[in-house]
Amino acid sequence: EVGLLGAVSFIAGTMIGSGIFISPQHVLSAIGSPAASMIIWASCGGLAMLGGLCYAELGTVIPESGAEYVYILRTTGKLAAFLFVFSFVNVMRPASATGIALSVAEYVVAPFYSDCAPPQLLVKCAAAGCILTLAVVNCLSVRIATLIQVLCTVVKLLALTVIALGGCVMLFQGQTGSIDSFEGTNVGVNSIGIAFYQGLWSYDGWNTLNFLTEELKHPEVNLPRAVIIAISLVTGLYLLVNVSYLTVMTPKELMMSNAVAVTWNKVLGSWGWIMSVAAALSAFGSLNGTFFSGGRVCFVAAREGHMFQPDILAMAHVRRLTPSPALIFTTFVSLLVLIPGDFQSIVNYFFTAWFFYGITLSGLIYLKIKRPDLPRVPIILPVIVIIAAVFLVLAPIIDSPQIEYLYVALFIFSGVIVYIPFIHYKVCPGLLTKLTVFLQLFLEVAPAEKNI
Ligand code: ARG
Repeated sequence: EVGLLGAVSFIAGTMIGSGIFISPQHVLSAIGSPAASMIIWASCGGLAMLGGLCYAELGTVIPESGAEYVYILRTTGKLAAFLFVFSFVNVMRPASATGIALSVAEYVVAPFYSDCAPPQLLVKCAAAGCILTLAVVNCLSVRIATLIQVLCTVVKLLALTVIALGGCVMLFQGQTGSIDSFEGTNVGVNSIGIAFYQGLWSYDGWNTLNFLTEELKHPEVNLPRAVIIAISLVTGLYLLVNVSYLTVMTPKELMMSNAVAVTWNKVLGSWGWIMSVAAALSAFGSLNGTFFSGGRVCFVAAREGHMFQPDILAMAHVRRLTPSPALIFTTFVSLLVLIPGDFQSIVNYFFTAWFFYGITLSGLIYLKIKRPDLPRVPIILPVIVIIAAVFLVLAPIIDSPQIEYLYVALFIFSGVIVYIPFIHYKVCPGLLTKLTVFLQLFLEVAPAEKNI
């Protein structure tokens, strides 16, 4: 029973995470000039809004929880939907968790290394510590996990407001920095692609509400409203925060700093440490939310009978009611991804996420052609987002082909090999049942009922 306010905070709380505290310098160094970087931030917000509006329409036409999974299932078919869950569980969730955990870690260790970059090993150990802590909390108690979520959301909104206000004060004092300068802009496909990846990472989570459509009050009204309010709010805040960074620091200083908000300390003076703590908590909250919400996809997929039957990943602990098997699995894969992981893990995430956003929106176009009476968004919106998705998926491959993309693509499609024998033809159900029963007893979990 999520109302409008809850819905808005769900979206905004997931979108605001590690990105805004860490990506501004990467956007700037990719694109080269302050004014161009502001344009990138605004365009990313625009793209998130277009995506959000299309998803709002999908959510009203197909009012089921599960976002991409259900939309792909209802428009494209079972196999594609299975490939989505397969990639979501194995690639997207672990890769995004790793990306966020690494940012928390940067913030946690940055104050101890004010004059140099912290050692990678230390950053990774700190990131692993975060992942493990949140995994344990989320397995033990829904209540504590929710509390962490609320606390972190309050902290990050306060921190961003302080940064944004600080920037406004600077502007009023006549310090505009070099915010209007296009000098040094890089216009290559690769630079623009990287800048977009960095910026869009901060906006990622715009589709959060579609994962829980069934839990919304009056989804046909609240879904579009919440999307519009939350995404405009976040876009406005991000733009102001960037203005603030750029007025307080020169572009050079911004690009050199290893964790932006820490460097912003110079405005707050001896209170500067507060900003680092806030940034770390913000990312921590986003990681918590990523753990917390992703489980729904498994539940919905299991309900449709498109996962292994019975699927251990869709079960919940019998007393604590937490989806511990899915959490333990995600934690395990995230830790594996963390070993070689760096920003590449976010790129891999994007590569996969935008591939499926594209497929989902093609489904919307198909629906609109088949049923021209469908309400609201003009067909040009999904077309624009699909073009963006194609660009985002292809740009890194064309520009600097790396073997990772091949691995990720092969992995997504290796889902077919799992699907045909195990899901479609249900071969050797006995083996799976034995394993599942063993794990069920070991973890004390049982299939979860749908929460109506
Ligand atoms: N936008 C968030 C950040 O800046 C990351 C969101 C990760 N994605 C997700 N669906 N939970 O850290």
